[in-house]
Amino acid sequence: MTFDPAALRAEFPILALRPHGQPLHYLDNGATAQVPRAVLDAIMRHETGARANVKRSVHYLAEAATEAYEAARNTLATYLNAADADEIVFTSGCTAAINLLAHSFGSRLDPGDEVLVSVLEHHSNIVPWQMLRERRGIVLKAIPVTPEGRLDLDRMESLLGKRTRLVALTHVSNVTGAETDVARVVAAAGAVGARVFLDGAQRAPHGPLDVRGLGIDFYACSGHKMFGPNGIGVLWGRKELLETMPPFLGGGEMIERVTIERTSYAEVPRRFEAGTPPIAQAVGLAAAAKWIAGLDQEAVHAHLARLTGRLLEGLARFRKLRVIGPQGLQARYPVVSFAIDGAHPHDVCQILDRHGVALRGGHHCAQPLMDAFGVAGTTRASLACYNDSDDIDALLAGLDDAMTRLGR
Ligand code: ALA
Repeated sequence: MTFDPAALRAEFPILALRPHGQPLHYLDNGATAQVPRAVLDAIMRHETGARANVKRSVHYLAEAATEAYEAARNTLATYLNAADADEIVFTSGCTAAINLLAHSFGSRLDPGDEVLVSVLEHHSNIVPWQMLRERRGIVLKAIPVTPEGRLDLDRMESLLGKRTRLVALTHVSNVTGAETDVARVVAAAGAVGARVFLDGAQRAPHGPLDVRGLGIDFYACSGHKMFGPNGIGVLWGRKELLETMPPFLGGGEMIERVTIERTSYAEVPRRFEAGTPPIAQAVGLAAAAKWIAGLDQEAVHAHLARLTGRLLEGLARFRKLRVIGPQGLQARYPVVSFAIDGAHPHDVCQILDRHGVALRGGHHCAQPLMDAFGVAGTTRASLACYNDSDDIDALLAGLDDAMTRLGR
């Protein structure tokens, strides 16, 4: 297996675009990654050769569609190293997966039971738990962050107790790139009998996972951040836990038998997939998972670490710029956020856009973290395997221009 970033780039038709007449330097992969031809082709093949609803009709196309949908479930089970394909629930996205968990797992919690999140979370892993607090009277606690933008795990241990039912944390921060020390979280949660959920939206694009090896109970990820389509995500849960959980949405295909008086529910995962699921999206996501798994993981990680190092080094020369997050390459993914004194991230992003550099600026759906750092927002570069040193150099050159224009 070889890894050639230039050849990889050529697999992504959109990367040939020239916004504002400039080469495209796409560094907003944390928001949405681009789609390789292998995924586009898989969707096209499905939509032109097997488009039908699943698990309903018995004609040729319906059976082909059902087969493709269940094959996608198997592929995702392999990608996550789930024990069983039935542990894979397809949802409309990562946010939907977390809401499903909060409703379904949450419906078994009693007033006074505790859910532990952190200040580092995306709003998707805060708001559903606050809504659960409204419904069930649970107590929501949050682990603070260290000045380096990591979870303060010493504080975590003091926040865990005998009422803690779930520890729900990001696997990799969408703002700082910091990777959670999962082994430590699992050991501490296990000691008080709490379950562990990880929001893997930012980690899952970076290679196959081993959810069983991690020792966690639930995991969520997002299709469009994994070089797949949008409108699809995955909730993985240990089967024995999913089986104790009631459905979230009601509707077609999640039932065993319906009378006007009552309904009995289907087995997992169908119980959690009411209505027509995102079928072509599942097929596309499976193609994306296979595409990622086909890369030389070690070479990709080394490449991204080199680029992250180049970026951090380049940013260090700007006096009025502060990196929000780890300054080094240990236990971090290629997401780098920074704040510039007196400059709004949207202005920075707009200037960079004229250089063909696509970044995200703002609070990144992580306002508690912005509050912790005393900033309204940051500018963020989030890298993917197709990025190269030209992208980093274009960002740094664009920043020089932004600093001059903004009088920094
Ligand atoms: N959660 C995505 C991001 O961090 C949208 O940009």
